[in-house]
Amino acid sequence: MVALHLLAPPPWPEYALLDTGNGAKLERFGPYTLVRPETQAIWRPTLPEQVWQQADAVFTKTKGGEESPGQWFQRRPLPDQWPLHANNLTFWVRLTPFRHTGVFPEHSAHWAWLERHIASRPAPTALVLFGYTGLSSLFAAERGAHVTHVDASKPALRWAQENQHLSGLDARPIRWLVDDVGKFIARELRRGRRYDLILLDPPVFGRGPQGEIWRLHEQLTGLVEQCVQLLSEQPLGLLLSAYATSMSALTLHNVLAAALTGREGRISAGELVLREQPAGRLLPAALYACWSSGAPPHTS
Ligand SMILES: C[S@@+](CC[C@H](N)C(=O)[O-])C[C@H]1O[C@@H](n2cnc3c(N)ncnc32)[C@H](O)[C@@H]1O
Repeated sequence: MVALHLLAPPPWPEYALLDTGNGAKLERFGPYTLVRPETQAIWRPTLPEQVWQQADAVFTKTKGGEESPGQWFQRRPLPDQWPLHANNLTFWVRLTPFRHTGVFPEHSAHWAWLERHIASRPAPTALVLFGYTGLSSLFAAERGAHVTHVDASKPALRWAQENQHLSGLDARPIRWLVDDVGKFIARELRRGRRYDLILLDPPVFGRGPQGEIWRLHEQLTGLVEQCVQLLSEQPLGLLLSAYATSMSALTLHNVLAAALTGREGRISAGELVLREQPAGRLLPAALYACWSSGAPPHTS
């Protein structure tokens, strides 16, 4: 029987999930508290209404579904950006028109996994697909990997490079690429390039730089199969995460397991969760499935 896990990141000193409920979450990013919509949080909040009403900025959707744009209402003027620190990294937080802040703290739940795999061999190669503002890429580079980071969005890539600079990692080997993931992978396969570690965090729906359409439910299986072909001869692992409310972590597990048929190693899957402070209630934040090859540690 497959066991699904709940994986919470270690606490960050400058980020806290303060409360959730009534379809929203109350978070602290450094000195500022934010209220953002949260589909999963249909339960009642723990903190009194007055606490929520004191938040520095509140995001409201103008219309439509989860990924529709909206507006930030600021109770006091917030800077355009401010820095946050975690795990030897420094990165910019910004309020974007799609409610995101450039930071998904739940992803750091995987950084111990990433660190372990990177440490098992000198300078492994890592491919980060749908890399967004680069936090996982920067973490991997900081720990010694040679990183290739792919994202369709030029502004996200610029943001990632600014985070690299802010983190003092300018000298680390990171190849930053604005590209469509599908086209990029097809090209890499043709060129015979291979990677020891692959991380992908695809959205439910996205567009490449030339308007190429990405749809998770239709394209994930093919993409994961191609990622498996892109693995090196002695690969370390593959990590897949997604924020998809209509999918189960078991689905990601099954996609990964089918694509890895015939390979040794271990797959684990489950949910990335954020722990409310101080109540301790867990908020489901994303799904994941990851494979570790169990490649022997490098000995020379
Ligand atoms: C960070 S991921 C998803 C984050 C989170 N899991 C979620 O769904 O909200 C989104 C990133 O994928 C990128 N993206 C979307 N479609 C893409 C495509 N076809 N090729 C490359 N990157 C793409 C976006 O530019 C964005 O930075």
